[in-house]
Amino acid sequence: MTFEYITKRFEETIGFNWLPEEATESEFKRVVASIGEPNEVSKTRFADLLCEIVCDKLDLYNKEIKFFIDTVAKKSIFFNYQEKLTIRGLFLKGDKAGLSRLLRKRKLNDAQTVVDRISIYSNEQIIGTLSETIKDDQNYDAILNSVFSALVFSLFERDAILSYYTHNKYRNQRFYSFLKERYPVKYEREHALSILKVDDTLLQSSRDYSLLLSTVCNYLQQEYKRLQNYCYTGIIIDPLTIDGESIQWRLYSDLVLYATKFIEERLKIGYFHPAKIQETTKRYIPNIDLEKADFSIANTGFTYKDCFILNSEQMCQEGDVVASSYRILVLFQKNKRDEEIIPCPECLSDNVRGNSYPILGVKSWECHNPLCPDKSKYNRGKRYSMSSIIKQEAIEDPSSTIDKNLLSEWRLDVISQKGIESVIDYLIRFYSFFGDTVHLYNMPSIGEEHAGRFLTYTDVPVHKSKKLLDFFDSAFFHRFSILDVSRNEQTFENISEIDGVEIYNGNCRDVLQSMPCNRFDGAITSPPYYNAKEYSHWPNIYCYLYDMYNHAAEVYRTLKPGAYFLYNIFDYFDNENNVVQSAMGEGRMILGAYIINLFRKIGFTIQDNIIWYKGHIQGHRSTNQGNNSPYYQAPLNCYEHILCFRKPGKQLSPIDFPKIVNIYPVIKIVKGVNILGHTAPYPIQLARILTSRIKGVVLDPYAGSFTTSRAASLDSINSVSIEMSKEYCQLGKRLLAQQENTLFKFL
Ligand SMILES: C[S@@+](CC[C@H](N)C(=O)[O-])C[C@H]1O[C@@H](n2cnc3c(N)ncnc32)[C@H](O)[C@@H]1O
Repeated sequence: MTFEYITKRFEETIGFNWLPEEATESEFKRVVASIGEPNEVSKTRFADLLCEIVCDKLDLYNKEIKFFIDTVAKKSIFFNYQEKLTIRGLFLKGDKAGLSRLLRKRKLNDAQTVVDRISIYSNEQIIGTLSETIKDDQNYDAILNSVFSALVFSLFERDAILSYYTHNKYRNQRFYSFLKERYPVKYEREHALSILKVDDTLLQSSRDYSLLLSTVCNYLQQEYKRLQNYCYTGIIIDPLTIDGESIQWRLYSDLVLYATKFIEERLKIGYFHPAKIQETTKRYIPNIDLEKADFSIANTGFTYKDCFILNSEQMCQEGDVVASSYRILVLFQKNKRDEEIIPCPECLSDNVRGNSYPILGVKSWECHNPLCPDKSKYNRGKRYSMSSIIKQEAIEDPSSTIDKNLLSEWRLDVISQKGIESVIDYLIRFYSFFGDTVHLYNMPSIGEEHAGRFLTYTDVPVHKSKKLLDFFDSAFFHRFSILDVSRNEQTFENISEIDGVEIYNGNCRDVLQSMPCNRFDGAITSPPYYNAKEYSHWPNIYCYLYDMYNHAAEVYRTLKPGAYFLYNIFDYFDNENNVVQSAMGEGRMILGAYIINLFRKIGFTIQDNIIWYKGHIQGHRSTNQGNNSPYYQAPLNCYEHILCFRKPGKQLSPIDFPKIVNIYPVIKIVKGVNILGHTAPYPIQLARILTSRIKGVVLDPYAGSFTTSRAASLDSINSVSIEMSKEYCQLGKRLLAQQENTLFKFL
C-alpha cells in the first residue's frame, strides 16, 4: 500500500477529507525504501485496526475496564499487571469472548453474567465518537495525526519495522533485554545491589571513629563507581559505642552527608544558576566567605531514599515506651546523570530528544519518530526515562514478583524483630531483579544464591585517608555552617501571666541573647518547617540551616553543662533549592543528618535518637500503583526523629531515654477545620519525655502552641517558651490557661 492509498482509505473510513503531516509521509517513505510497502489489508480489517487505535488514544473503554476489574474484585479475583494489559487489549478489540475465557480461567463461576453487562462499541459508534471529539477540539489535527501514525505503524509487519529502527534483526523480547543486548557493558547487572554492614568488626580494636568514617566514605566512593546506574545500596548500622559513647547517629549523619554530597561538579547545565544561589544566600548571610563557599560547585552523589529503624522487639500499644536497641538501615540510590540516548521503548527508534529531568540525575526522553505508535492523544512523543524502563522491566518480569505477605511486612519504615537475614532478603527482593548479582560487604553468609540472585561476599578493608575526610570542611559546609556574631537589636516582649511559665514573643535568638549562660536544665523543641507552613521564609536550605545553627548556639550557651536538648525533626520531601528550583530538585530531605552535623560543631554530643513511632498514619508515599514488583515499593514514613543532644559537662547527670516511643500524632484537622489553631503541634506526651525526667527550668525556643510549657506544668517544673508569632502566643496562653483551670478544678 502506498502512502496516498492509506490516506485515502483513512479518509473513507473516518468519513471526511484530511491530510496527514508531511513528516509522517517522509518517514513512511524512508521505511518503505528499506523494508518495502505494507501488504494490502481488507476494508474491514483496516476499519477494525483504526477503531482499536481510536479506542486506545481516546481511552474510550476507561470506565468499562474499571467496572469490569471492580466487579471481579468484589468476587475476590485480582489481576496482576500482565492480566490488566491483556484485559485492556481485549476491550480495545471488542473481544467479549476473550474476556469471558479469561474469567473462566480464573475460575469465576458467573463469568458470562459479568461479560454480558459490558457494552462494546461498534465501529460506527467509535468513528462517530472520533468525529464528535475532533469537532469540539481545536487540536483535532494533532488527534488525527496521532491516530494515523499508529495506524500506519501497525500496517507494517511488526518485526520488519522494528528491525528497521534497530538497524538489526529484531527478536521479540522485552525492552530491557533488548537494551542489554545492544549495550552489553552499560546494562549488565553484575553489580545491581550492594549491602554493607557496619558493626563492631569494622571498628576493630582501634575503636577510632575517624578510621571507621574514612573506611565507610571510601566504600561509598567505590560503590558509586561500581554500582549499576539507578540501583541501590543499603547500609546497616548496628548500635555502636566508643568509650561508652554511642556513635550510631553520628555515623549516620556523616555518611548520609558524604554519600549525598561528595561529588563536586563545576556544573555547566541550563538548570543550575550558581550566581543566583550565591546572591540569595549572601543577602541572607552577609558574613559568608564567598571564596570558601565557592558556589560554582554543585554537590551531588547518591540519592537518599530512606532510613529504616530495625527494632529488636515487638512494637507495643500506643503510649507504651519501647525501650530496646535498634539497628538502622540507610538506603541510597545511584542516579548519575547520563546523556547517552536511550531508544524509544515502543518503536525502538533513536530519533529521540532529551526532554527534562523528572528528578536530578534521571534524564527523561521524548520520542520524535513521526510514526511512533505510542504518541499521546495530542500527538506528543512518548516520554520515558531509564528509571521508568527499569520499573517497567520489574513489572513485566513475573519471576521478580514480590510475595504479598512480604510487602505488608515491609510497609512501614519502622520494622520489628527482623534479623540480618530478613533484611538481606528484603533488600534483594525489593531492589534487584531475578538473575542479578548482589554484593554483600562485611556480611554473614546466607549462601551463594538467594531468590534467584547470585551473591558475592567481600570483607571491607580498613581505609585510612585524611583526604576523604577533608570533605567535611569543603565548600559545601562553608555555605551555612557560619556563626553569626552580630547582636540584633530586635525587640521582644515578655508576656507571662502564670507563675513558673515565662513567655516571650520574639525571635528566640534575640530573646536568648538577653539571658545568662547556663540557665536551663533542659530544652525540647520542634523547629519551624523549612517549607510550606505559613512562617517559612527561607529561600534555600543554606539559609534555613544557618538560622537553625545560630539559634541552637544560643540554646547551647544557655543550657547547664550536662543538660539535654531534644530536637524533634522529620525528613520530609522538599527541594533544597541549591542546585535547581523546579520540582526535579525535590526529594527526601536529610534534615536529621544536617542538624546532627551542625549541633556537633556547636559543641553538643549526639547521645541518641529517640524514634517517635507514629503508627499506621495515612499517606500516599508508599503507593505502589498495585505493582508487586521490585523498584516500585517505598515504605510509608511512620516516624520522626527526636535527636537527643547533650551539652558536655557534669553539672547535670546523664538520663537514660527510651529508644522508641509510640505516640499517636496530634489530631488537628477535623472535617477540614484545624481545631487546634496551630499547624504543627507535637503531642504533650512527647514533651513529657523530657519534662518528666528533669527538675528546674525547661526551654522551648520555638514554642508554637506552648505544648512544652503545658507539659512542664503537668510535671511541676518551670518553663521558658519563646514564640515569634503573636497569634500563636495568644493561642498558647489560652491553652495554658485552659489547662491550669482544669488542673485547678481537680486539686
Ligand atoms: C513546629 S512549630 C512548634 C510547635 C510546637 N512544638 C507545638 O507543639 O505547638 C515551630 C514554631 O516556631 C516558630 N518560630 C519560627 N521561627 C522562630 C524564631 N526564630 N523564634 C521563635 N519562634 C519561631 C513558628 O512560628 C512556629 O510556631
